[in-house]
Amino acid sequence: MQTGREFLDEALKKDERVDAALRPATFDDFAGQPKTLERLRVMVGAARARGEALSHILLSGPPGLGKTTLAHILAGEMGRTVRITSGPVIERPGDLAGMLTNLEAGDLLFIDEIHRLPKTVEEYLYSAMEDFRIDIMLDQGPNARSVRLDVPRFTLIGATTRMGLLTAPLRSRFTMQTRLDYYPREVMRKIVIRTCTLLHIEIDEGGAKEIAGRARGTPRIANNLVSFVRDYAEQRADGKITKKVAAAALELLEIDENGLDEMDKRLLVLIARNYKGGPVGVGTLAVAVGEDEQTLEEVHEPYLIQEGYLQRTPQGRVLTDKGWQITGLTPQTRGGQLEML
Ligand SMILES: Nc1ncnc2c1ncn2[C@@H]1O[C@H](COP(=O)(O)OP(=O)(O)O)[C@@H](O)[C@H]1O
Ligand SMILES: [Mg+2]
Repeated sequence: MQTGREFLDEALKKDERVDAALRPATFDDFAGQPKTLERLRVMVGAARARGEALSHILLSGPPGLGKTTLAHILAGEMGRTVRITSGPVIERPGDLAGMLTNLEAGDLLFIDEIHRLPKTVEEYLYSAMEDFRIDIMLDQGPNARSVRLDVPRFTLIGATTRMGLLTAPLRSRFTMQTRLDYYPREVMRKIVIRTCTLLHIEIDEGGAKEIAGRARGTPRIANNLVSFVRDYAEQRADGKITKKVAAAALELLEIDENGLDEMDKRLLVLIARNYKGGPVGVGTLAVAVGEDEQTLEEVHEPYLIQEGYLQRTPQGRVLTDKGWQITGLTPQTRGGQLEML
């Protein structure tokens, strides 16, 4: 059987088909993130009023919070086309040049995972963003010469889950840098209801709250939980999602009432038991729980930190009091009797 952990992993992978159906299409349709939304509305309003292209925007934040969605919305609100690509896909400067020269003035270019852009490509992007031209080197050695290509006045929308991995020169070339945060429960509840309405799923307030509370503040996870809870409601109940049905379904996925899955709990217990509450380095933790370091840093840690279970210090990760509570251990009884690992 698929565990809750595997389910969440699946959920965080992109399911573009479902995503597209549920993706809000306008600013008005996009719930939450009031600061980011207001910043973007101001920029779009001004650019439109002046008849100019939008300036470059960098969206950061954990997976599933709406970065790709916002790129589409920005294009829609500007009445422009957005071309979608991602950092690792642009392997050579020529790839970038091809893409840029194919844009029309005012178009948007969305580069997902922009922190994974190869360094050689990144340098070409600087002049494209700043001066709307690129100097491509042809040949090497004595025959080397460079060709200047003009690039239309485009808008770069960069997205990253790892702001810290972005170089300062690249970051500084974005006029606007805005970060998406985990959604509060109340907003999550609205998103759950919106999803159910769009998919014609019957759900009551209790059911919506239950799912909202366990979706790690992440719309993409909420949408995926809704999908499983709907299946559960059809197979094990009368089809309607109530609090009880939702709780039972999510229990089956081993997602607890705080939205923590087994990996989160394993991490917390590990830090408590083997490292006396920390500090411990993330690399060590990754090896110990058998998880990829990047997934820990992008998916698990940010949520545990935001919810106050974990703290990031220069020496490593440290459990908070709230984190200790979840483990059922105390600093004194560490190495205690609980067999959660
Ligand atoms: N503010 C929001 N309101 C409603 N649904 C949202 C919102 N943000 C994201 N979603 C939903 O979550 C899914 C994942 O969002 P996406 O933009 O792909 O996240 P990211 O690119 O940050 O990983 C989208 O398909 C969309 O349905
Ligand atoms: Mg995305």
